[in-house]
Amino acid sequence: MATTMPRRLLILLSMLTGFAIFTAIPVSGGGKVPSRKAASGSDRGRDSHFHEDFRRLQALKASISRPDSISIASPPSSFSPSPSPSPLPSPGVNNPRIYLLTAYGADPTGNSDSTQAILQAIADASKDKNGDELMQGITDLGGAQINLQGGNYLISQPLQLPATGVGNLMIHGGTIKASDNFPADGYLIDLSDNPNNKNGDSSSSYNYEYITLKDLLLDSNYKGGGISVINSIRTSIDNCYITHFTTNGILVKSGHETYIRNSFLGQHITAGGDRGERNFSGIGINLQGNDNAVTDVVIFSAGLGIMVTGQANTFSGVHCYNKATGFGGTGIYLKLPGLTQTRIVNSYMDYTGIVAEDPVQLHISSSFFLGDGNIVLKSINGVANGVSIVNNMFSGSDNGVEIVKLDQSNGPFKQVDQVFVDRNFVRGMNTKATVAKVSKKGNGTSWTLDFNNILLFPNLIRHVQYSLSAIGNGFPVHALRNVSENRIVIETNEAVTANVFVTVDQGVAS
Ligand SMILES: *[C@@H]1O[C@H](CO)[C@@H](O)[C@H](O)[C@H]1NC(C)=O
Ligand SMILES: *[C@@H]1O[C@H](CO)[C@@H](O)[C@H](O)[C@H]1NC(C)=O
Ligand SMILES: *[C@@H]1O[C@H](CO)[C@@H](O)[C@H](O)[C@H]1NC(C)=O
Repeated sequence: MATTMPRRLLILLSMLTGFAIFTAIPVSGGGKVPSRKAASGSDRGRDSHFHEDFRRLQALKASISRPDSISIASPPSSFSPSPSPSPLPSPGVNNPRIYLLTAYGADPTGNSDSTQAILQAIADASKDKNGDELMQGITDLGGAQINLQGGNYLISQPLQLPATGVGNLMIHGGTIKASDNFPADGYLIDLSDNPNNKNGDSSSSYNYEYITLKDLLLDSNYKGGGISVINSIRTSIDNCYITHFTTNGILVKSGHETYIRNSFLGQHITAGGDRGERNFSGIGINLQGNDNAVTDVVIFSAGLGIMVTGQANTFSGVHCYNKATGFGGTGIYLKLPGLTQTRIVNSYMDYTGIVAEDPVQLHISSSFFLGDGNIVLKSINGVANGVSIVNNMFSGSDNGVEIVKLDQSNGPFKQVDQVFVDRNFVRGMNTKATVAKVSKKGNGTSWTLDFNNILLFPNLIRHVQYSLSAIGNGFPVHALRNVSENRIVIETNEAVTANVFVTVDQGVAS
């Protein structure tokens, strides 16, 4: 990849000047791990049939009293007509519900503030169409679309839906930018419970279901974040470019099944090797919920690529070059000590690393770590259980960085079980593994083999298997005499010349 060299040079340069710190720097902070929420959709108990009937009645009434051409080119009269003729057919009962922002008077040039026009389009799109429901209490908006028409819109407050309890809505096709007075803690698109409009008629335990945000460039203008998805399910974020955030590019909190795909996130628009890399801050994706997927996503600048504090999330095809580990960046931080339940596969950690606190059920495979990017297992309460780190490629610059490193600054790992680190392919870094095989030729009555330079955990050998092959006429009696401090000793009853072959394993279930 084209940016490799500049970044490598930059790091070499800073090494020469003595600045680079080639250990993974864990992100500080005392974020609490939220307790696992039931991942299965907890459909609350049946509400009364009365509620349902009443709601349908309301919907019917609304559909009769509303000019149903709810759609397309029929903006509310309070808005100035679109300066250009609508490219879509005239409204009619059977038209799909496509809400064109320009028809609401939004300014596609990005010169004037379009907040109210966009909010009005969203409000209209959020009106009940046919009374169908998705999850109970979530009104099906029938696939209504807010169409940005390729425009660039300036907004001064977050785009929120007027009320919770709706789903099957898409916002797509253009650029949204925060104005200079946008709130610094806001998100351009904010799928949270709108505090300004609690109409309280939603009986759903989720805010929204199946909201699709697609083909959007979101520019936070260094005011807050890009997208927040709060307590929602089946949210799709697809082909978005999210930049200039100061907090999170995407924040996902509670709920489940937010799928983030084919997207690009960066605090600054760079392509690696940027002089300001040391100062990159913010988090690309902050996952504080369960059962989400991040697939084919690039995080090209941020202090931290992906922060994970919820379980059962999966990452595939993620490319993190957000900030080199040597500058204090981390690609993926798994802050779920004791219950990690995370899979990271087929990803590219490009000068960035992965940090996992007390990993319990963590799988990392088929990934590529470049530029001394590595994996740090950080002890919190000393637990590592059900970890497999296999079939990855690591490439470094002979700085002696270990491909998997223990951070025991809070205390040692005391409960290690089913940890398997092996079959990784390493250039220019120090291999670490939980399985090791060594053969040694010697002469005498004692063979000592030291596995400390390869075994991941200190003083932990659960299983030894060896064979001794004497050369010549000797037929010695031999035995395994000592296993301690990751060293084993084999002794014979007479002096012989022999080859010994030894396999040791730290990961066998105890
Ligand atoms: C990084 O930030 C510091 C302090 O805010 C500033 O002095 C420095 O110029 C910045 N460096 C770059 C390369 O932007
Ligand atoms: C092994 O050691 C013995 C005694 O020290 C010596 O006589 C013998 O030549 C050695 N054999 C080899 C193959 O080094
Ligand atoms: C095994 O080796 C360790 C040093 O590695 C030593 O302290 C210990 O006494 C040895 N045990 C036996 C039974 O020889």
